[in-house]
Amino acid sequence: MIRAVERIFQSKIGNDDLVIASTGLPARVVYHVHDSQNNFYVQGSMGASLGIGIGLALNRPERKVHVIAGDADILMSLGTVVLMNKLNLPNLHLHILDNNACVSTGGQATCSDAVDFESMAKNVSVYKIPKDKPDVGRIPLKDSEIAQRFHDAINSPPTLVCSESTRKFFPDIKDVFIVKHAPTKEFVEKFAGSRKSSRIIAVGGGAVMDTAKILGGEVEAYPTTAAGSVTSDHAVYWDGPKKCSFQCKAPKVFKIVPEYLMDLPDEVIEYTLYDTVAHALESLWSKNKTEESEKYATAALAKISEITKKSQTLKIDEKTPENLVKLIEAGNLAGKALGITHSNVMHALSYPLTEKYKVPHGKALGWLLPRIAPYYSLRTPEVKGLDKLNVNIERARIDINYVIEEALKYPKIHDTTKEINKGMLLKILL
Ligand SMILES: [Fe+2]
Repeated sequence: MIRAVERIFQSKIGNDDLVIASTGLPARVVYHVHDSQNNFYVQGSMGASLGIGIGLALNRPERKVHVIAGDADILMSLGTVVLMNKLNLPNLHLHILDNNACVSTGGQATCSDAVDFESMAKNVSVYKIPKDKPDVGRIPLKDSEIAQRFHDAINSPPTLVCSESTRKFFPDIKDVFIVKHAPTKEFVEKFAGSRKSSRIIAVGGGAVMDTAKILGGEVEAYPTTAAGSVTSDHAVYWDGPKKCSFQCKAPKVFKIVPEYLMDLPDEVIEYTLYDTVAHALESLWSKNKTEESEKYATAALAKISEITKKSQTLKIDEKTPENLVKLIEAGNLAGKALGITHSNVMHALSYPLTEKYKVPHGKALGWLLPRIAPYYSLRTPEVKGLDKLNVNIERARIDINYVIEEALKYPKIHDTTKEINKGMLLKILL
């Protein structure tokens, strides 16, 4: 059942579509596979799911409605399928998970084998599935919560927060914030909490996620870079050159969609890779390291090594959906590690490079990595190709003295297992 529901979500259900899941196991599996404010989990009312779907599709002709129901649920009020056929609503689709049994109540046989559901109405799909009971827990939401958030989802139009390049994935959303840079203090003053009651769909990298969280609604995050921001309960914004933290809710849903990643420019993929490795390594060098942070950081580096096997330098082997998903997963793990330890020396040095010299964040880290990593080399796992990494940041136009002095003002720079001082940094970076 889990695999069938995964398939339905991957191939049939758009990000803004509404989903009604029938009582019992179908609802629990839908929750397990893809929870969203857009899902309504029917609780206890067997046979009611398609009726609810018809009502919704009639009243919200602009939204696509999917009913995911067990065969027993549909058989219980088969007449509703006849009504569906008569109304012929183009925005309604019924997906029947047919195991010829009512597994939720003990596996009693149904007579679904005597019915051809697909011939009864248009837009009916039947998925023949095994009778086994999937191991999924109960839905940890109160009935009132399920109702309230679904009510919000159907009544308030979502806000899309995205980059220029990811706008196209949600052409129907009208309320759009295009993010061009990380949020500033002025943005926070003007917009913080302004979308408190809406659903926010965030598609993009760290700046997109931070912007979405500051807006204040229920954020559904579709990260396209390895932003640690996807799981954290704060957002980064800038007050001039000063990095500040804004306390907010972590995104409600977090999902990696390979399709959104395929358009990423090579440069973004490259910088994401450097940023991820930097996050993992800094967390391993950190004085604040815990067993948990070490576990995340090591797992992140293991995923990185899976996708950088072929190249002599630190580089992703091929831009396949599988590799890109692994990169984002690694970024997420490294982000979790850094959430425990916080960043230190490389990020401290990267900030003035980005602020004053406009070197992109990941690029600055790519330049720093082969310089700083050897200083800690005995204490961290080796990252293949790091020593051969050669990122050009137009060194001649950068005053390294200034960069070091600014970096030393960053309080967390000293949180590492080896001492940091100006002399040592000058020796490494000059
Ligand atoms: Fe970073």
